[in-house]
Amino acid sequence: DVFSCVSLRFFIFIQCLQAGALVDSSSLSSATQQLSITYMAGEEAILPCSWKSRLGEVALPTCHIQWVTPMDTVFEQWGEKKWQAPEFEGRVRVPEEKLGSGNCSLIISDVQIGDAGRYDSFMVVEGARSKTTRVFIQGVSLFVNDHKSYQSHRPGEDMVLQLHTRHSVRVVFQGRNSSEWSDVWMRGDNNSQRLEKHLLLEQLTVKRLKPSDEGIYKVLDEEGLSVSTVQLTVEGEVAPNFCHKGVAAKRSSSALHTMLVLLLSFRALNFL
Ligand SMILES: *[C@@H]1O[C@H](CO)[C@@H](O)[C@H](O)[C@H]1NC(C)=O
Ligand SMILES: *[C@@H]1O[C@H](CO)[C@@H](O)[C@H](O)[C@H]1NC(C)=O
Ligand SMILES: *[C@@H]1O[C@H](CO)[C@@H](O)[C@H](O)[C@H]1NC(C)=O
Repeated sequence: DVFSCVSLRFFIFIQCLQAGALVDSSSLSSATQQLSITYMAGEEAILPCSWKSRLGEVALPTCHIQWVTPMDTVFEQWGEKKWQAPEFEGRVRVPEEKLGSGNCSLIISDVQIGDAGRYDSFMVVEGARSKTTRVFIQGVSLFVNDHKSYQSHRPGEDMVLQLHTRHSVRVVFQGRNSSEWSDVWMRGDNNSQRLEKHLLLEQLTVKRLKPSDEGIYKVLDEEGLSVSTVQLTVEGEVAPNFCHKGVAAKRSSSALHTMLVLLLSFRALNFL
């Protein structure tokens, strides 16, 4: 077993080396091939990568993958060893079982506005005399869009504001006739009578809307970047307890309906 393991490693090592040598000369021309992908903040982003297209049809379960930005290394995996940049802690992975079969796509969960930029993947190939070669695999331009929406409610109704990601830490508000922004919510705030953060979901409920709540709500992340902008209008008839009244009205009308049906069926029976 030990012998087969060693010889397998040796085989992989040789294959890696040959493939690396093959690819190196052609990597310049294909380096210009660039993918562009766009996601919304908070989504799971997948940065595509396939090392088989570069390194050929060999099984390389222990090869060494790197994902880098022009600024720093984002993710590195070498067999069991893994490394993540602090700003991506717990958010980046390359599924190991997929890596073995040639898929080196980087998964960024809960993608942030600040994650946007250029990413490059490399396979690090160990050569003779511990000389290592980095083989360029894929360049990806990641774009991350913020959310924009419009909501219209009647006075007295509630508004649900999506925070989209757990990295949203602040909500600011600009009233319709105002030029100033004021704080509405900060992560860690206790719920109040008018504002409630869902226990599990990344959403905020603003209760019993008033005309003065009309305006623009911005959800900001830790870097102060806008994750979401919601424009709210509050107009129409006041809806006082419209929920309870609605239910009661439905109940009584359905009771009336049942009675009518019963009455009619009695009549039908009488005719028979
Ligand atoms: C590679 O894996 C990702 C998820 O890790 C998946 O979304 C993608 O479809 C896979 N690509 C191929 C070519 O199978
Ligand atoms: C939230 O409520 C708890 C207990 O009611 C209190 O101890 C804490 O100071 C409050 N936090 C804020 C930010 O108001
Ligand atoms: C904004 O100003 C207009 C007139 O300039 C006024 O009719 C309206 O009530 C104001 N809205 C709010 C929310 O203060």
